[in-house]
Amino acid sequence: MSTNVAVYPGSFDPITNGHVDIILRGAQIFDRLIVLVAVNSEKKNLFSLDERVDLIREVFGGNPKVEVDTFEGLLVKYMCARDIRVVIRGLRAVSDFEYEFQMALMNRKIFPEADTLFLATRENYSYVSSRILKEVFGLGGCISDLAPAVVIEAMKQKFKPARRKSKEAR
Ligand code: COA
Repeated sequence: MSTNVAVYPGSFDPITNGHVDIILRGAQIFDRLIVLVAVNSEKKNLFSLDERVDLIREVFGGNPKVEVDTFEGLLVKYMCARDIRVVIRGLRAVSDFEYEFQMALMNRKIFPEADTLFLATRENYSYVSSRILKEVFGLGGCISDLAPAVVIEAMKQKFKPARRKSKEAR
């Protein structure tokens, strides 16, 4: 059994500083932390799966405790296949709790050995989500202290035409 390994699943479209903070703190608790990027065809992502993975790898390239992988389907199936028992999730506000609690219990129902470890987000990232960052950036707002520099650069490329149009319209 991989006792000292945990997974941190999510869409990471794209990774934000809130995620980075949870990953760094998770990697201090466990010998290895697998950042698990979900393939979710129902969610309309800005970045492709490969792009999301590459961005995370760029951020954590030098950190031997952080691994990046992808999964499709049930999270606990991935965990079962790799004999991993712990899921890390970040809690930003009370509003996250109900959904997170439900997921944790359902995951444990399907895979009784699975446990979820909740880390309270750092207060300065408690209002951050990938969606809100994309929205603000797309409309020309500055988010430089809320996402890694490589992510900001990648967003600039994605939003180039939209941001140019919004500048021209002013
Ligand atoms: N800092 C900043 N942002 C954070 C954050 C943090 N600490 N924690 C969460 N967020 C953001 C995410 O970026 C995401 O933003 P978005 O909705 O704008 O993309 C939002 O909060 C919600 O995050 P999360 O709840 O982690 O959703 P997700 O889509 O990223 O991941 C899965 C959800 C993939 C982990 C979950 O759906 C799953 O496990 N799916 C697999 C199928 C399965 O097993 N289902 C049964 C579950 S019981």
